Amino acid sequence: MAGKIPQHFIDDLLAKVDIVDVIDQRVSLKKSGSNYGACCPFHNEKTPSFTVSQTKQFYHCFGCSANGSAISFLMEYEGMHFVDAIESLAESVGMEVPRDAKATQVRNDSKPLYTLMESIASFYTAQLRQSPEAIEYLKARGLSGETAKRFSIGYVPDGWDALQKHFPNEEAAMLKTGMLIKGDNGKRPYQRFRNRIMFPIRDKRGRVIAFGGRVLDKQEPKYLNSPETPLFHKGQELYGLYEARKSGQDAGMIIVVEGYMDVVALAQHGIENSVATLGTAANQQHSEMLFRTVSNIVFCFDGDRAGRAAAWRALTATLPCLQDGRDAHFLFLPDGEDPDSVVKAGGAASFNDLLAYRIPIIDYLYQYLSSDLDMSGIGGKAQLAEKAKPLLATIPKGIYKQLALRRLETLIGLSLGSEKAGSRPQPTRPPRNQGDAGLTAMSRAVLLCLQYPSVVQTIAPDDYDLNPELPGADVLLKLIAYCDSTPDITTARLLERFREGQSHAYLVKLATKPYYPDGRELDQTSAELEFAHCIGRLKERSQQKLADRVDPSARTGLLGLKRR
Ligand code: UTP
Ligand code: MN
Repeated sequence: MAGKIPQHFIDDLLAKVDIVDVIDQRVSLKKSGSNYGACCPFHNEKTPSFTVSQTKQFYHCFGCSANGSAISFLMEYEGMHFVDAIESLAESVGMEVPRDAKATQVRNDSKPLYTLMESIASFYTAQLRQSPEAIEYLKARGLSGETAKRFSIGYVPDGWDALQKHFPNEEAAMLKTGMLIKGDNGKRPYQRFRNRIMFPIRDKRGRVIAFGGRVLDKQEPKYLNSPETPLFHKGQELYGLYEARKSGQDAGMIIVVEGYMDVVALAQHGIENSVATLGTAANQQHSEMLFRTVSNIVFCFDGDRAGRAAAWRALTATLPCLQDGRDAHFLFLPDGEDPDSVVKAGGAASFNDLLAYRIPIIDYLYQYLSSDLDMSGIGGKAQLAEKAKPLLATIPKGIYKQLALRRLETLIGLSLGSEKAGSRPQPTRPPRNQGDAGLTAMSRAVLLCLQYPSVVQTIAPDDYDLNPELPGADVLLKLIAYCDSTPDITTARLLERFREGQSHAYLVKLATKPYYPDGRELDQTSAELEFAHCIGRLKERSQQKLADRVDPSARTGLLGLKRR
């Protein structure tokens, strides 16, 4: 190994890596406000005081004062030496660490590339202002000046050399970023984009890394995108993600649509939490990237064949990202419609109405797999289970996975054993979140009913066929019946109904007990998942009890009557 690593390389490297990715791969981060947080990996703590700022590309722990860049993080967390940390980061973003002075001279270029791309975007927006035809086109599509500005939409004039004229010294850089194309046989380079509406594509830190260009008329191709360049890898980017995050309107959910104009039109109508893939299917990286910002993704597709195929690819890419607490849905639009046409015809209300018909990812999984099976027969059901197994195996271990399996069991009318389908055999007790307050499944179910009464409605009534002989089942079943019959019942009202009963003191205790020992609050979704999990456990136990009873050795006591 030779030579010192030049400072400008380190600088470029830190401009390219995202500290949130680097840390999140090692310590699971949660979005909190504009930053990300976690329990500090450098000291023992129960409540998170470790924060990572994406804008600052810096981490800081308020508890132990650990802080620094992505490089310091690797040094501290992985115990790496400085040079190794840089090697590791460089490798993760496809950069090569320069080893000598000569090598360093050709490499020091990504900063100017970003700056150049930003200047080109400004040039295009200035051109738009001077093109009545382009302005008319956008107006006809219903866009306001404000929306155009929000997405920095521009226009590139026709001809071969508008860019070269405006940026005479940047030919090499413009070739590198795909803005110019090399001419044949030593002819001069020419503009890739001509006479198009230009959509700058930003990375999640807001830097312009590529463009998409749309023709104003019926020519082909309708959209032209930047090629793969040192700045742009289309499979890793999502159009509109930066703008969506900036709007602050994520509502815990991001909608993934197919086109630039869909994102822009939705925003025009006040729906600012959408992004588009860039002419590729949504992949796992996309889903991971989105789940770092929100816990719910809605994939929106045309209802046609191509839309269904794209949806299926998004589905298989998303299953491995479904850790507990995350969820995904699919929305299929009526044939021939896209989000742009929907909001144009009926405003945000129309789109939101359709949104109500989104299908949970697991339901869509089974729906898609069973679409060509005869589910009324044994053969079809067996085939469904067979086809579903390898897909379910890709879901991370947890409650979500168990619920997905249980749904399959319901569909085929057969118990597959708690975790057997879809994964290798495991201990029957699933990994629990830390906590459960040291309570039995029965007490946890009671606690959840008391504190989150609406969880009761998320489970089909049939699933409450618990064995009344399980200790505590009488109280739980009463609670469930109360909650079920009175949708907006409160904890206080529930407790009141038990005032005279023997179980009152026990219920009061559970009504005030935090679910987690550290006092963290459950959110509604987790409460539902936990509740379903508890009911699942209790059902298993009910079945065991039943099995014990039909065991021949117990048979004599079956009717409580002794033979003579
Ligand atoms: P669509 O053909 O569905 O177009 O392409 P659209 O988004 O409805 O466009 P408008 O409303 O006619 O303007 C969806 C996406 O597929 C990619 C683009 O990313 C586009 O936004 N695409 C489409 C291309 O890359 N090239 C094309 O020629 C067409
Ligand atoms: Mn469209």
